[in-house]
Amino acid sequence: MTDHSTKSSKLESLITNALSRRRFLQSVGLVGAGTFLAGMPIKQAISATQSKLLDFDALPASTSDKVIVPKGYRADVLISWGDPLFPYAPQFDPSGKANAAAQARQFGDNNDGMSCFPLSTDRAVMVVNNEYTNQEYLFDHDGSSLTADDVAKSQAAHGISIFEIVRKDSAWAVDLQGTLNRRITANTLLHMTGPAAGHELLKTEADPSGTKILGTFNNCSNGKTPWGTYLTCEENVNFNFGSSAPHKQSALEKRYGIKGNKSYYQWEQHDPRFDLSKNPNEANRFGWIVEIDPMNPDSTPLKRSALGRFKHENAAITVNKDGHVVVYMGDDAKGEHIYRFISKHTYDATQPQKNRDLLAEGTLYVARFNGEHDALRGRGEWLELTHGKNGLTVEAGFADQAEVLIYARKAASIVGATTMDRPEWVAVHPDQTTIYCTLTNNKDRGSEGQPLNGPNPRADNHYGQIIRWRPLLNDHTSTEFEWDFYLLAGNPSVYDDARAGTTNITSDNMFNSPDGIGFDAAGRLWIMTDGKYSNEGKYAGMGNNQMLCSNPSTGEIRRFMTGPIGCEITGLCFSEDNKTLFVGIQHPGEHNTPSHFPAGGASKPRSSIMMIHRENGKSFAE
Ligand code: FEO
Ligand code: CA
Ligand code: CA
Repeated sequence: MTDHSTKSSKLESLITNALSRRRFLQSVGLVGAGTFLAGMPIKQAISATQSKLLDFDALPASTSDKVIVPKGYRADVLISWGDPLFPYAPQFDPSGKANAAAQARQFGDNNDGMSCFPLSTDRAVMVVNNEYTNQEYLFDHDGSSLTADDVAKSQAAHGISIFEIVRKDSAWAVDLQGTLNRRITANTLLHMTGPAAGHELLKTEADPSGTKILGTFNNCSNGKTPWGTYLTCEENVNFNFGSSAPHKQSALEKRYGIKGNKSYYQWEQHDPRFDLSKNPNEANRFGWIVEIDPMNPDSTPLKRSALGRFKHENAAITVNKDGHVVVYMGDDAKGEHIYRFISKHTYDATQPQKNRDLLAEGTLYVARFNGEHDALRGRGEWLELTHGKNGLTVEAGFADQAEVLIYARKAASIVGATTMDRPEWVAVHPDQTTIYCTLTNNKDRGSEGQPLNGPNPRADNHYGQIIRWRPLLNDHTSTEFEWDFYLLAGNPSVYDDARAGTTNITSDNMFNSPDGIGFDAAGRLWIMTDGKYSNEGKYAGMGNNQMLCSNPSTGEIRRFMTGPIGCEITGLCFSEDNKTLFVGIQHPGEHNTPSHFPAGGASKPRSSIMMIHRENGKSFAE
């Protein structure tokens, strides 16, 4: 375990004092409503009328094995892992004996990011990431040794599920006859685009073109473009590669967490593509953002190399006032970074087809946050990741721009990016002025190589924080930005120092490890958690993972939903009329915790998408 004696250092007491001071200021009214951090211009961007909390009674923390929503709201299951997506698909078989062919026609496992694309008032197409699998539930054995069909089944449980839904009364149901229904798995053909397409580092024996890539997997969260496509983000792809023979890990493989051992998924045991001793370049073909056209089930998904290769969490897209498309992205690993992509060309609503190529070319940047770690706010700048600039030269190990993108993490370190506490989701406020980002936790903060810094001010950070930044002059292509905290999560029932969190964290709404975030049309920020659910010690009183609703103009946070045992809450989108909130329950029963969600009894736990309605029929946009 890391020695965190630095916590008692002068720096740590400064941050503690800074937090305590603000608590004091708020308690005596010196920091008024709408002011989260005194003196920060960022707060002026959002008027109180733009965002007010829904009318609901905040829920207490829960340790029960169900989804709970406030009185006046209803939550129903839309779909669960293994449900059929086509008329000829089999029903879910809880025994675990179902084969790969069955899984390829069913809803994949561990749903994560998702988007809802309207087709008409009462019909829509859902596009949902299926991030990974839990071996103990996927098979009829513990997953420690796999057959070839087991591997194929695991590959089929990954990827993306696309399916039409129809409204029946106020709820929605999957339409197995939907002509857009589709599965994209670890074996679907995709094309690489952008500067890395066809590069030597992407060529394999099976694909000498370096452009025809089979599959996408570990699809974490997502993005939705203004031109109607879906972005899926490849995150923990390193766990899908192993080696059948001794493999010496290179420094770059180490930076990307790629090991030459027996992997968790064991795909290398039966599929040589994932065997690093045979196909070392295959790993370079993953860790990208993929663009999918959900309206054309025959379309080939496109990997977008211009957006860099790392552990992509999600993609928050906005169209800048000058028409450039800007994508903000987090790299979810301890001490990794936050990125920004700016398209070369501009968005033109009258040229839908032209917009389809906007993510093929552009410039990638990485964030450096300035400001002393105890200031709780500061300025920052975007550092360009372009070959030949900022030290990204041949001498530094980059032959060309493709290599800068393939090894974006290395490039980010060279230009001086700030190490972060695991950047997860990024979300742009509907008013387009402010960007929010969850930094979920980082127990290594304060250890060697990860000193405390402005947006990551707490050593041994178990709770996480949400930061936000505002580009200068509201220009998303600006080099500079201002940043502050929206919240530092913590446990004010156990601690009264920096671990208690910011003043908007109370014993009634506390949580740990904010992960998914998203705004509704009224400007409320929804916060989903992927944290520890022991409900003991430093997590006492927090209960199971949960979803909270907050008001960015005041910082108020209320617990809206609690999840079942062992789950994470992740994935959020709304129907076009905003009357349905879709939210994901991922991995209930993780690590063999005693969950039987959603069917109850002695049933096998299954990841599911919930649809939440207001019983008064009102929309979530009001
Ligand atoms: Fe898939 Fe970082 O969460
Ligand atoms: Ca996540
Ligand atoms: Ca997480």
